[in-house]
Amino acid sequence: MVVLKSPDEIGKIRQSSIIVAEILQGLAGLVKPGATTRELNNYAETEAHKRGARPAFKGYNGYPFALCTSLNQEVVHGFPSEHPLKEGDIVSLDFGVCYKDYFGDSAVTLPVGRISETAANLLRATEEALYRGINEAKENNRVGDISFAVQNHVERLGFSVVREYVGHGIGRKLHEDPPVPNFGVRGRGIELKPGMVFAIEPMVNEGTHKVKVKPDGWTVVTADGKLSAHFEHTVAITENGPEVLSTLV
Ligand code: MF3
Ligand code: CO
Repeated sequence: MVVLKSPDEIGKIRQSSIIVAEILQGLAGLVKPGATTRELNNYAETEAHKRGARPAFKGYNGYPFALCTSLNQEVVHGFPSEHPLKEGDIVSLDFGVCYKDYFGDSAVTLPVGRISETAANLLRATEEALYRGINEAKENNRVGDISFAVQNHVERLGFSVVREYVGHGIGRKLHEDPPVPNFGVRGRGIELKPGMVFAIEPMVNEGTHKVKVKPDGWTVVTADGKLSAHFEHTVAITENGPEVLSTLV
């Protein structure tokens, strides 16, 4: 069941999403060779609490950290660790909070110092695919229009989209209906209506779309060990088109 949100509720999801965006911006300033993802996790957790928000992922289905940090071949749900970042890495930072009973969720993938041309192309393609998807998040379209736009952009550039993990509705719960896949067919799926709020989150692989889960039960990695990137925004469907809630501009 898809829950429609009132303008007032969208305002609350915007407040949560802005907290997430501020913290991701702060984290971006800390990403450099020698920093550890555990330091990033601790920053995110502390900053959320300072703002009266609760990190949404910690304890969610038993996930043990506030932040997901996915390095290089890791796709999503990587554990923050004491292992230092090094020049040439790419690191995905995925963060969500609950503030005044509403959730916000966003992710970016960042370069650590100078990165390879392939890595830079992958990051650009993934962020562009997210915005292609966001542009389709409007009245009278269907979920499949978002999915198709993401997949089409990614595959045109020679990369692949992950199938096993998808975007989602968001509001009073972190994960609500509908699922928002990053692959699909135009004109399929439920019809989009003002008041729907989605987390759109393409996960894009350099090589095969296939993934596996590490023995820790959480860390998703590419099956071929090649790179993966992830970008996510919380987006409201309004009468005036898509509104990105998890942004500071
Ligand atoms: N942004 C991810 C999602 O929407 C993060 C979930 S991590 C988890 O699914 F730990 F909360 F599961
Ligand atoms: Co999400």
